[in-house]
Amino acid sequence: MSSFQLEINPDPTAMIQRAAVLWRQWCQEAVTDHGRFTVALSGGSTPKQLYSYLAQQPNLDWEHTLLFWGDERYVPHDHPDSNYRMTRESLLDHIPIPAGNLYPWPTATDPDQDARTYQQLLQQVFQTEWPAFDLMLLGIGGDGHTASLFPGTPALQVEDEWTTVGNKDGEPRLTLTFPAINHSRQVMFLVSGSGKAEILKALLTNPSPLPAQQVKAAGQLLWFLDRDAAAQLPLYFTL
Ligand code: 6PG
Repeated sequence: MSSFQLEINPDPTAMIQRAAVLWRQWCQEAVTDHGRFTVALSGGSTPKQLYSYLAQQPNLDWEHTLLFWGDERYVPHDHPDSNYRMTRESLLDHIPIPAGNLYPWPTATDPDQDARTYQQLLQQVFQTEWPAFDLMLLGIGGDGHTASLFPGTPALQVEDEWTTVGNKDGEPRLTLTFPAINHSRQVMFLVSGSGKAEILKALLTNPSPLPAQQVKAAGQLLWFLDRDAAAQLPLYFTL
């Protein structure tokens, strides 16, 4: 298990407010350091709460913020299941971000081709051996998946590509690979609710093959939880 930092907030609202404070700080640091703030967004109801909150925050530097997606369902961008649509409705339609700063996954050809296309796009943006996102936002599922890296799927084994095609119950998903995720400067898991307490205990207290436990960070790996999600962690985690 890689080392990580854990922050437990009383409730989802407090957790999201704290995450937004760090978003602003990391954005300022990244823009000062290298002129832009690159963020890979996550799908899911928990990250969505952060997007809605960020949409209301004044004076965030959207001009220099580039938004990517860590994974995407293989549906049109206006489909109810689309992570891009969810982000558009909760954040993008409410902020002054230039259209050229948005990098959604293509989902109109076939999954393998669109995953390759996205990798090429990322390589043009980063021009490095691996993408170094300033911030990688992630959620976890009750089965320990993160992004669209689901237990027992071939996507977990991909080590030489930035993107791949994941699989959820037979449905294709587009996703960053572990190496593409693990070269990020900051990785932040956002996890809330009692429904995640059991999987979090499994992920944070013992070595396991669960996908989310394979995530590392070049810089900080942060687990942001609310009290309900942290309820089954050993006491020393919560002191
Ligand atoms: C997705 C996400 C997925 C999500 C987790 C947690 O496309 O759905 O990438 O990994 O983050 O399933 O989702 P919740 O926060 O809604 O439980």
